Formats: sequence, structure tokens, C-alpha cells
Amino acid sequence: MSLETNTELPKDLKLTKEFLEAFKVMNETSKNVFITGNAGTGKSTLLEYFREKTKKNTAIVARQGITALKAKGQTIHSFFKFPIHFVTKKDVKTLRDRELVQRLDTLIIEEASMVSSDMFDAIDTSLRKNRSIDKPFGGVQIILFGDLMQLPPIVGGEEELYEKFYQGGRYFFDSFIYKKTEFEKIELTEAFRQKEKKFLNLLNKIRKGKISNLELKSLNSQVIEYENLPKDVIVLAPRNNKVDDINLSKLYELKTKTFIYSAIVKGSFKDSEFPVERELKLKVGAQVMVAKNDTDPTKRWVNGSIGVIQHLSQDEVKVLIKGKLYSIGKAKWEKFNYQINGSFIQQKVVGSFIQFPFKLAWAVTIHKSQGQTFDKIALDLDTGAFAHGQTYVALSRGKTLGNTFILSKINQKDIIFDNRVKDFLENKKTIKSPSKKVIGKKTYGALDDQKDESGWSISDDRKLIALFKRKVPEHALSKIFKKSLKEIKERITYLRNKD
Ligand SMILES: Nc1ncnc2c1ncn2[C@@H]1O[C@H](COP(=O)(O)OP(=O)(O)O)[C@@H](O)[C@H]1O
Ligand SMILES: [Mg+2]
Repeated sequence: MSLETNTELPKDLKLTKEFLEAFKVMNETSKNVFITGNAGTGKSTLLEYFREKTKKNTAIVARQGITALKAKGQTIHSFFKFPIHFVTKKDVKTLRDRELVQRLDTLIIEEASMVSSDMFDAIDTSLRKNRSIDKPFGGVQIILFGDLMQLPPIVGGEEELYEKFYQGGRYFFDSFIYKKTEFEKIELTEAFRQKEKKFLNLLNKIRKGKISNLELKSLNSQVIEYENLPKDVIVLAPRNNKVDDINLSKLYELKTKTFIYSAIVKGSFKDSEFPVERELKLKVGAQVMVAKNDTDPTKRWVNGSIGVIQHLSQDEVKVLIKGKLYSIGKAKWEKFNYQINGSFIQQKVVGSFIQFPFKLAWAVTIHKSQGQTFDKIALDLDTGAFAHGQTYVALSRGKTLGNTFILSKINQKDIIFDNRVKDFLENKKTIKSPSKKVIGKKTYGALDDQKDESGWSISDDRKLIALFKRKVPEHALSKIFKKSLKEIKERITYLRNKD
């Protein structure tokens, strides 16, 4: 499941002084730049502004497919043909279409906090090799967009390699090339997503990993029971299993008929890049997120608007959004690639995906929510946050404190902060290994998925009990867990007696 669609410039786009200054450095110089700023300061909006205005030969890339799609670019893996693991010099290939990178003036990297050190070095190697220019990044201007206080690179299972080659450093700034090159840092400071002083202040404390117990208590005054959540709220949770639990059990609870819609997929769209489900299951009463902006200039809904399905038929979906009923038709997403045309680089459509632009939206993972804006959010940290910046990303998706709800209390241990980032931002030499806190959490997470003798893991058990409490029928549980009815019954009895 994914959320993002293409970023559009807002109707009320404000060209602040810092926006224009940043644009000037990007557009009129060949300096490498790192454009950063708190969540909601318009980084992605500036990226889109640059994409539309610049005459430079530009390519946009991102670590995650879904981020690339939103930024109208390509993944780093597909652009550079990197393998899906730790990238070494040996993995850097001569590209078939070398002319394209040879014409490149500027490479933009969106959500750079998620780009790992090996990958950043490999980008440098590839550009040098394919442009046959032995200069940093083969002489291409690099523009990084991102916020290091948000989610870090995912290096699942390859920690040893980062230990060996990068002394444990996994961020782009831990790369060899970053240390050898100049990057001008430009910080955007005007907050667009949130406006309230008190909220911004609390967010800032969480961002920096330093919040007093008193302030945490004031945030936790937003704690609410699941049953009392207002309408059109989206639950953000750290782990996929919690999110699937909520969406599936909510869909099961509905007594209405299931409609299944199949997408038309053409060209090179990978499963992981689908903007919504290929086989979309909907029911009247389902809470959904619209995954595409309204094409009408009145913008009756935008990408991210939450609504409730009111009517379904083979070729029509009617949704209630903010008290108004709309019939929303199928939408088309396009995937871009880059091509040479004379001496210019042009974007070419290489794939398309046609489907109703909806996804079940009672809940979403925090990782998938990075980059999004929502009107009302409810944070369910469940068994706890596990990554640097995770709680900050979640809380900063909403616009107001009043519309930010908390389902399980936020504790100090959920404010995870990697000291490596702090040292980097304070210009200190980076420390040898990431904080113990993070490592401890990882081990805990891995144990969660280990199955016991009877084939049940801790996370299975948690999911089973959650679904059982929400009255999901046993035959449905048997399908979800791929176990017999008898096994399901026995496990429920066992778990209930254990409590
Ligand atoms: N210059 C601007 N003028 C008006 N609205 C803006 C501006 N920049 C951003 N926004 C709005 O603020 C929200 C957050 O912007 P976004 O670019 O996603 O921020 P970031 O990438 O820094 O988190 C979006 O709804 C966007 O439309
Ligand atoms: Mg952004």
C-alpha cells in the first residue's frame, strides 16, 4: 500500500525570500546544495517549483518508489541500475543510455535522509564512470532535499557492512564523497503545514529529541479512546501489522457488499510502485483516502483528502468528503523516465496505471506517511516507535494540535534520536556506532516475528487478539493467519487464559 501521488504547487503559493534565494542558488549556480528545514517548510514544494521553472537538464531521483512518484522522478535504483542491496564499486554499471547522464546538469535527490552512505558513494562513482569525468559526481550539480530529523535509511540486515566500510555510518553524510565535497546548506524556516505556536513548539522539542515530561504530558492530554475518535481521522502506526489489522478489521466489520476493482497497468510499473491497490476492495461505509488531486480548478478534493464511500457500482464510486457527495472516476498515474532529445533531456512516460484513486484509510504506516499532509491524525505507537525521527514524522503530518489525537500514550522512549545526526548537524566528528537505544529496539523487533513451537509469533498473537477483540469472525481469522479453525480457537483460548 502506498499514499503518494504527484506534488502540485498550491494555489496560494507564497514566494518567500528564502524560497527565491534557494531557487537562485539552484538555478543560477552549479553549487551542490542541501536544502533542508523542518517538516512542512515547503521543501517538496520548492522542488516542484524548480522542476517547473528551470531550464537546466535535470533528473529527480529518490530512494523509495513512492517518493519518486510524488516528486515526478525515478528511483535511484532504476536510474543508476543499482542492485537492491549494499552497493559496492563493483556494482556500478556502465549505463546503456550514457548520453543521458552525459547531458545532465543537475541531479535532485528527494527525501535525502533516507539515502544511505553506500548509495551516495555509488551515485558519485556512476556519474564519474558514465560521464568519463573524474570529478566529484562527474561534474553534475547535486541538490539534496530532506530533513535529517525524519526517517533514516533502512539498512535491514546489512549492519555489518556499514560497520566494516563506514564505521557504522549509514547516512549520506557518512559517505566518502560527502566528506570530500562542498555542499551549501540552505534551510527553509517558514512553517506552512502548521501555524499554531504551541504546536510548533512541541513539534520542535520532539524533533530535537528533547521534550520535558511536563510537555509530553501536555501532548498526551490529546489521548483518546479508539471508539471516541472523530470522523475522517487517519491512524498512523509504526508497524505494518498494526495498520493492516486496523484496515482489515474495519473493512470486515462493515456488513455491506464487497466490490473489487482491477487496475489497468501498462509499461514498466513495478508492484512496489503501484499508487493504490491493483485489486482494490471497497465497501460502502469504508473510510478511504483520495490518492489524486481533483482535476477541476475548484479543487473539491486533494491528494490525501479523507472520505467515506457512499455508493458503489461497477463503474462508479461516490464518496462523502467534508459533508459533500462526489462521484470520483478512475485516475491515471504515469511513470517517467529520462531521454535525450537533441541536446536536451526530456521526460518520457514509460508506464501507466489506471484505477479508482482510493485506498483504505483508517490507518497507514508512519514510513508511508512521510511527505504527506493530513487534516486529522491519530497516532497509535502501539508497541512503541523503533526508528530515529519516527514520532516526529508522525506528529508533524497534521496541521493543528486540536486535530492531533493520541491512542497510546507517547513515552520518552518513543522519542528516538540518533546522535550521529546531532553530531553531524553540530559539525562534530561522527561517533563510531549508533546509539544503543536504536540497536536495542531492533533486536526486540526481530524477536517479535520469531515463531514459537506451535507456529505463532509475538506479533501474530498481538494481531490475533486485536482482531478477535474487534469481533472479526473466526473463519476470517483462519484465512488471515492461514491456520485451521481449530488452531485459531485454541490459540485464542490460550491467549485469553494467559492474560
Ligand atoms: N511557499 C508556499 N506557499 C504556500 N503553501 C506552501 C508553500 N510551501 C509549502 N506549502 C504547503 O505546505 C504544505 C507542506 O509543504 P511540503 O512542500 O510538503 O513541505 P515539506 O516537504 O518541507 O515537508 C503543503 O500543503 C504545501 O502545499
Ligand atoms: Mg517533503
